[in-house]
Amino acid sequence: MSQLIIANWKSNMSQAQALAWLESWAKVWQPDADQTVVLAVPFTLVGALDWFTAHQTQFSAEQQAAFKLAVQDLSPFPAGAYTGAITTENLQGFAVKYALVGHSERRRYFHETNQEVANKVEQALAVGITPVVCVDRDYLTSQAATLSSKEWAKCVIAYEPLEAIGTGSRQPAAEVEPVVAEIKAQFGQVPVVYGGSVDADSAAEYVGVVDGLLVGGQSLKPDSFNGIVKNFRK
Ligand code: PGA
Repeated sequence: MSQLIIANWKSNMSQAQALAWLESWAKVWQPDADQTVVLAVPFTLVGALDWFTAHQTQFSAEQQAAFKLAVQDLSPFPAGAYTGAITTENLQGFAVKYALVGHSERRRYFHETNQEVANKVEQALAVGITPVVCVDRDYLTSQAATLSSKEWAKCVIAYEPLEAIGTGSRQPAAEVEPVVAEIKAQFGQVPVVYGGSVDADSAAEYVGVVDGLLVGGQSLKPDSFNGIVKNFRK
């Protein structure tokens, strides 16, 4: 299974900053055949970044092949009368391959429930977008109960312990390992990524424990994110 390293920019970056990030990224990043790098960006940046990666010659064919775009959320509803929501129909024509759903910040500040997260997963799966479903230990069983194993089989699960997110206090790999087993027992043999204060120095510790990483703060600078991508290699 190829490794998945996901940058979660959260609500940061103007269009100019995002394009500057990609220009620097194209210079420093040496793609690896066993890794896929995913950039999860605000909706407003999808168009510009999609255009850059497809048409700018400084982004090589190898980089293009190993790089995917993601959104950080999705509407739980189909296209229709839902003012302000971004649906999978709105994303048609853009090369969006993944969608983060149920991030703890969405659950916490926007009061998303397990059921809404499940509805978002269904919306994504209907158009072939791979959902990256974020869970913490205390609700992974209740989240798993919302959909069938057939649906979970098409998802990636991100284990994101709340106390590790954005705090600089990551969960050691030895503590992540048993939770990965719990996730696989509940959701099936899905790829599991870990997120929470990962940096270039700690990335190597998670190799072999998880199938990938979800990186917030340390993804905002191309150099620090590249350090993580390099050090996570098998
Ligand atoms: P962090 O964020 O790397 O800044 O802890 C991870 C996440 O929230 O996805």
